Amino acid sequence: MRKQIAAANWKMNLTLQQSEALMNELLAIPHTLNENQQAVFGVPFPYLINVKNKLSGKKNAFVAAQNCYDKKSGAYTGEVSAEMLKSISVDYVILGHSERREYFNESHAMLAAKVNISLENGLKPIFCCGEALSVREAGNENNFVETQLKESLFHLSAAQMTGFVIAYEPIWAIGTGKTASNEQAQQMHAHIRSVLAKQYGQAIADSISILYGGSVKANNAKEIFAQPDVDGGLVGGASLVAADFAAIINSLK
Ligand code: PGA
Repeated sequence: MRKQIAAANWKMNLTLQQSEALMNELLAIPHTLNENQQAVFGVPFPYLINVKNKLSGKKNAFVAAQNCYDKKSGAYTGEVSAEMLKSISVDYVILGHSERREYFNESHAMLAAKVNISLENGLKPIFCCGEALSVREAGNENNFVETQLKESLFHLSAAQMTGFVIAYEPIWAIGTGKTASNEQAQQMHAHIRSVLAKQYGQAIADSISILYGGSVKANNAKEIFAQPDVDGGLVGGASLVAADFAAIINSLK
């Protein structure tokens, strides 16, 4: 059975002190994660070790880096490698977020290389895809997302894709307070799963967790997560508020 995942994406927010206060508050709120559910914390690089330590002994709770570089090591001032993340026991890495594609010009090919080096180092990618408003208005969203998946993932083997994590994040819903409707989310998630099934077979497609991202909040998470092909969420703004993210974790199927 594929995992149901509530993944926080703190983006470039919080000081160390604020991040500790947030984690302390969150960990004090009772929540239950069964074997099939996970909470993942996508935090800035400087806080990864700290958050990992705070989660020690907690079952089904993991940390994610928000990026890594596509080269192994060397003279790349300011970059962080997958091997470094592995060496501090990071579990996941968010790749291909629309903000990275837009502001840092991350291409399909670069993302394919980042996926490869992450997998080589035992990091699980949370691979983001999603269309801009103009693409949806032109009725082209299915093809657009399909291309993102094909270009950066479809070189992977069936074994590498088993249990993979994809996040569908329509750009027009990120940080705007405007979520996709339940129907829009389900329609795209079903499309993504059918594209995966065509490439890898139904069993592998059914093992892949497809998270929805874009203005997931405490008051809408349950209905979005209830859609049959939505396996949790990648959460920005609401993950910065302990009570809200706790409620989102508790909305997992
Ligand atoms: P948001 O961000 O929840 O603030 O819309 C989601 C994301 O960008 O991952």
